[in-house]
Parts: sequence; structure tokens; C-alpha cells
Amino acid sequence: MGAYDTDFLRQLLTRNHRLYYYLNEIDEVALEQMAIETTLDPLFYTNHHRVSVVRGGVSTTGLLPNTFDKIIIRNAFHHFENAPSMLVTIQTSLKAGGELLIKEAFKDQCVGDCCTELISTNKFKQVLQEAGFELLREQVLIDPNGFNWSFFRYSYQGS
Ligand SMILES: C[S@@+](CC[C@H](N)C(=O)[O-])C[C@H]1O[C@@H](n2cnc3c(N)ncnc32)[C@H](O)[C@@H]1O
Repeated sequence: MGAYDTDFLRQLLTRNHRLYYYLNEIDEVALEQMAIETTLDPLFYTNHHRVSVVRGGVSTTGLLPNTFDKIIIRNAFHHFENAPSMLVTIQTSLKAGGELLIKEAFKDQCVGDCCTELISTNKFKQVLQEAGFELLREQVLIDPNGFNWSFFRYSYQGS
């Protein structure tokens, strides 16, 4: 979710040769650029059957319901205008027992120049809990540049 570019997909594709990936984004320019890259770049061209670019929305993933084993949100959660609604549509897109993986930074752990839209750790955890996600794992990520990232693995068992 909120892929922005194909950098992360590149890493995923070269590490795994079986999985299917859907790049979700809301920004029109980024969507267009990703569509071009996934068509022209040889890495994507040879894996074209495993890669799709999907237009999302403020309150929707734009993804098919009950389809995904995992949804990844990397450095994008704090940009969601309506996080509770987005979490509901994420639940719809996940299969029962599916997982939501989130890499996020928080304003209370900000070191140096941080995005002004960051939210607090407590607010983040509260929104996920209220949406019905179960926290399986929380991990602080060591960043060589000294930036504080956290990783979360949540499961959703279905309603
Ligand atoms: C800081 S960028 C992170 C990009 C990328 N995930 C990364 O780690 O480099 C956040 C992205 O989230 C996207 N975004 C914001 N709201 C969104 C939404 N409702 N659905 C999908 N993407 C969204 C923005 O357009 C932006 O490209």
C-alpha cells in the first residue's frame, strides 16, 4: 500500500520467485511511473504475470476482496487521511488469517528531520487494536542513518 515507486518490489521479486505482487498507490504521477517501469524494465517484464499496479483511494485499497495473504504498508500509514476506514478495506482485501505488515516511524520517536504527518506510537497502536487486528510481533529496526523505524506484524482472523 502506498508503494510510490518500484524499489521495494525490486527487492521482493529478486528474493522470491513464486509470489504475486500488487502495487497500490493513490498518487497519479507515481501510478503512471510505476505502470511504465513495470512494463519496460527487464526485471518486471520477465515477471509481468506476477506484478500488477492498482489505483487505490482515500478509503479503499482498490484491491479485490478476500484475496491477499499479506498486505504491506511501508512508511505510508501516517499519510492515510482516514486510517480507520482504510483498515476496514484492508480487512476486506485480506483472506481470513491474513497478515498486515507495517513499517512506520512515530513523532514521539523522531530524531532529526521527520515527516510532519507522523502520528504517535500510542495512537497508531490504538487505531490498529480498535480495528480488530491482533499484534503478533513488534520490532525496532536498526537504521544506519540513526532514524527510528518500527516494524509490526498483525493478523486479522475475520469478523
Ligand atoms: C512516504 S511515501 C512512502 C513510499 C514507499 N512506501 C516507501 O517506503 O518508499 C507514502 C506514500 O503513500 C501514498 N498514499 C497516501 N495515502 C494513500 C492511500 N489512501 N492509498 C494508497 N497510497 C496512499 C502516497 O501517495 C505516497 O506515495
